[in-house]
Amino acid sequence: MSADAADGPQQWAMSSTLPARPRPVVPWRGAGVLALLLATVGCDGGRPLAAQTAGSEQQIERGRVLLAQYQCGSCHAIPGVADARGRQAGTLEAFSARSYIAGRLPNELPVLAAWIADPRALVPTTSMPAMGASPGDALAMAAYLDALE
Ligand code: HEC
Repeated sequence: MSADAADGPQQWAMSSTLPARPRPVVPWRGAGVLALLLATVGCDGGRPLAAQTAGSEQQIERGRVLLAQYQCGSCHAIPGVADARGRQAGTLEAFSARSYIAGRLPNELPVLAAWIADPRALVPTTSMPAMGASPGDALAMAAYLDALE
């Protein structure tokens, strides 16, 4: 049996039971949140996050589960996510094909993760609320959206 097969599910179980990281107090600034995210998430499978352009399969699947758990679908329609049929905000269908997040941020994985973690840190006037996602959870959800073609 490979180490991967043994570690995968266990690692998931652990990360879903981890308490949310306390949020350090930083003055709102998009760059600060992004830097914080890069520092706390670090890397995935040895690749530095900043160099990551797509989520791993495991991350994408975890993202699907988290999108349902965080109830993003109460406002957004999200293909493949249970009960995600909300109409208060735009559909996230084919999100990977979008150039911009919220019409103004480049649609790149680390930026998308930062947006999901704290949208108002990036766009103070946005009506999307912060959903209390940890940087790791936000990255997994971003990976799922980033894989929607
Ligand atoms: C209370 C309703 C609400 C919830 C819940 C919500 N959002 Fe949003 N979301 C919005 C609104 C409103 C916008 C548009 C913001 C803007 O353009 O400034 C938005 C925008 C977005 C965008 C950018 C969409 C685009 O067209 O560029 C993404 C991605 C996104 N949300 C992901 C999520 C995720 C992931 C969650 C769950 C963690 C979530 N949202 C939960 C209301 C919500």
